[in-house]
Amino acid sequence: MLSLGYEVHGLVRRVALEDPERRFTRIAHLLDRVQLHAASLESYPSIFAVVSHHDFDECYHLAAQSFVAESFADGFSTMNTNINGTHYMLAALRELRPQCRFYFAGSSEMFGLVSETPQRETTPFHPRSPYGISKVAGFELSRNYREAYGMFAANGILFNHEGPRRGFEFVTRKITSTVARIKAGQATELRLGNLEARRDWGHAKDYVRAMHLILQHDRPEEFVVASSESHTVREFCELAFSEVGLDYREYVRIDERFYRPAEVESLVGDATKVRTVLGWHPTYNFSELVREMVQNDLKVVLSQTAGLPAAIGGQR
Ligand code: GDD
Repeated sequence: MLSLGYEVHGLVRRVALEDPERRFTRIAHLLDRVQLHAASLESYPSIFAVVSHHDFDECYHLAAQSFVAESFADGFSTMNTNINGTHYMLAALRELRPQCRFYFAGSSEMFGLVSETPQRETTPFHPRSPYGISKVAGFELSRNYREAYGMFAANGILFNHEGPRRGFEFVTRKITSTVARIKAGQATELRLGNLEARRDWGHAKDYVRAMHLILQHDRPEEFVVASSESHTVREFCELAFSEVGLDYREYVRIDERFYRPAEVESLVGDATKVRTVLGWHPTYNFSELVREMVQNDLKVVLSQTAGLPAAIGGQR
């Protein structure tokens, strides 16, 4: 957004503002170029206050409790934050900035137990987790504000998007960060759950471009954003370990704790609409994504060993 000349504002919780050293690692290089406001998805007045002070043109509503496994552990908080938070954002915009374009971060998790392959905009939803259910509710809220109040509320349905800034609890980063630690002699094994789960993994850098394009379209609509390739967690491991000359079978251990009560076994998206209508196309393929993440984590481990501040960033 900055490179396109936008003035960028973000919402952060007060706890994060009070602990910038740890909480802002991923945006440390941008802190002097964005304006951050204290607000919480759990508080309508805090969102209303921020929206009332600035004349926003576009709103990218990406904030959520986004870790599927955690949503099984505490479904109540996930539902409260994700559903009410989306409703608060939409209600505040309707009240104060009805012309602001709104992007809702829908997810391929909404397809869950899939009824057709590949999944596209018209594929029915069958979510398999409190997280997936909360995203379906947010998606429908967004569509309802469009239909009821004429707001420009658009829905992206993004498949998994990864990169060097991914949180360590998600499987891709868990794998690449552990590969780097094993290579550096700081870890001896990698404990994972279901290795046969299939995901359609793309690079976050490509997917945020799609979000922007979705809001530049002449109508608010739904768009699937996907690489249209699917790989198993096992294949991700195989490639990540081979990047540093190791065989994953010697290090990966199956751990029942990382299985989910209800799994989304296989996802792969049909990105025809976003490609043809918006001209979007990804610039990374699967092996480039895995390579970049492993190489970045090797650098992080080396800089920590050398006592340098850890760098988290992309290469392009
Ligand atoms: N996290 C994790 N940890 N996942 C594991 C593990 C493990 O140790 N072992 C196997 N997996 C499997 C999960 O069971 C799942 O099938 C797959 O790896 C991917 O898990 P995650 O990386 O946690 O992502 P996700 O697919 O559940 O959800 C992500 O993508 C969605 C888009 O489809 C998140 O980013 C969601 O917020 C996002 O909506």
